[in-house]
Amino acid sequence: MSRFSTSFILVVLLVQNQILENLINLPVAALFMRGYSDVLIGLQYGDEGKGKIVALLAKSYDLIVRFNGGGNAGHTHYFGGSRIALHQIPSGIFEPNVGSYIASGCVVNFERLLAEIVDVQQFVDITDRFFIASQATVVQPHHVLFDKITGNDIGTTGNGIGPAYADRALRKIGGRLKNVQVHYVLSNAENVKEIFVDNYNYVLEKFVDMSDEKHAKIVDSLGDVRQQVERLVSSAHELKKYVCTDQLWLEGLVRGGKKVLFEGAQAAGLDVVTGNVPYVTSSHTNAGAAYAEGDLPPKYHRKTFGVAKAIETRVGAGPFVSEFGRLASEIYCTKDNGRAHSAEFERFHYNADELLNSRDHFEIGVALRMIGGEYGATTGRPRRTGMLDLVQLRHACRYNGVDELYLNKVDSLADFSRTKLSGVPLVVAYDLDGKILDYVPPSTEDLGMINPVIEYASHISPIAAKERGGLSSEVIQLIARIEQEVGCAVAGIGVGPCREQVIFYH
Ligand code: GDP
Ligand code: IMO
Ligand code: MG
Repeated sequence: MSRFSTSFILVVLLVQNQILENLINLPVAALFMRGYSDVLIGLQYGDEGKGKIVALLAKSYDLIVRFNGGGNAGHTHYFGGSRIALHQIPSGIFEPNVGSYIASGCVVNFERLLAEIVDVQQFVDITDRFFIASQATVVQPHHVLFDKITGNDIGTTGNGIGPAYADRALRKIGGRLKNVQVHYVLSNAENVKEIFVDNYNYVLEKFVDMSDEKHAKIVDSLGDVRQQVERLVSSAHELKKYVCTDQLWLEGLVRGGKKVLFEGAQAAGLDVVTGNVPYVTSSHTNAGAAYAEGDLPPKYHRKTFGVAKAIETRVGAGPFVSEFGRLASEIYCTKDNGRAHSAEFERFHYNADELLNSRDHFEIGVALRMIGGEYGATTGRPRRTGMLDLVQLRHACRYNGVDELYLNKVDSLADFSRTKLSGVPLVVAYDLDGKILDYVPPSTEDLGMINPVIEYASHISPIAAKERGGLSSEVIQLIARIEQEVGCAVAGIGVGPCREQVIFYH
């Protein structure tokens, strides 16, 4: 190349560089240092094993960020021989070099968060790598009271989540501050106590009937409001060192090259807008919410991971098309808001192996719950169990733009070979009054009336493999079918509850 053309190219590059820098107001070199963010969400009704997959992937990131929900989540981990459920702390906390951030879109229960930190500190040191957004909404005592009084119809977890998000939207009413953010508690210690007490007494007066035995019991169990408020405020001050007041903090880190994984709580089926309303949680659970609520602009987004369970569960009320035993199961599992049929009750009254061999779908569902230990990580309630619903899974993958799917509990599918079922049951279409649907209808009433169209894949034998090469042809065929029906690649399959029990698939 002539000297002239080389100089010409150089000049063009320099000019372009300058134009680019002016345009984006950033040195071009910084572009190449830029980090990225991925989002991981649940695709069914929660409890898909999101925490396990986040823990598995955590090493590849600098920071794990929760962007929705609060103490209603329960993400199970097996660490150092113990089983630990994380509720508010992100699931990367057991990786010593990975940071954890509770973003502005979460609702924070200080007292319970402090207790969770104490538990976690027994295993790992979180100094200098745990952060809470100062604009997260504080769960106040009246939120918990209101939720416990009114949440039975939906079967909420009783953590005050719905009332906290409702107050976030209400902001301030009749002179009463409703949405108290983290920073406000820290800078208005005395004033905020009066606000909390006032809000509590308002709910007590308007919504609680002390002549109702259940109400009186709830109020009694929560204790004196002044003591609740003292505990809240003192916990908040103990956690002050973790509070991050810079709204641009996360953006700055990613701009400078850090990698973030957003950890969704709950799941697509429980989204406050597009889930089975009203049988949903009160936050946005879909992938896009990470950027509306997680303190990072969407321009850093790289990939979306979805997590599903091969034997689905749902806890609380609401439609569940693939449920074993449908209405009977829902009524049984939600009786006394799940307290009537605990793990202890079922262990005492039933023999799981016998029930598994039953012709009755309700009984098969009970057996699968007992064998899989499917009881709420937050509430201990029995989880309703169901078949893998490919219509729901395809819908959630498309709606959320899932790039890679993690399918947990593939090992549990081997349990079907001990039933009288002719194979592994899969819901492949929905029948609504004779009309076949291949998508999830938006009406919860319609969803409740759907009959699942079920097909059976070949039974699989217990999985002993530790890598894809060791999997039987039945498992490989099954995964290929799921990928084809769902239109999304399976990145990993769970073959046991621990993070070491995930086989990377592609
Ligand atoms: P999360 O809320 O999505 O993190 O999930 P949870 O921890 O609430 O519930 C997941 C449940 O599935 C727990 O009971 C786990 O032990 C169990 N689990 C997760 N992955 C697997 C798997 O691959 N095999 C089996 N057998 N159980 C699993
Ligand atoms: P993770 O993150 C499963 C359900 C409750 C109830 C409804 C509303 O562990 O998957 P809420 O207390 O949020 O107002 O309850 O949502 N629910 C969950 N179900 N897993 C969860 O979280 C859930 N969080 C809330 O059972 O039906
Ligand atoms: Mg859970």
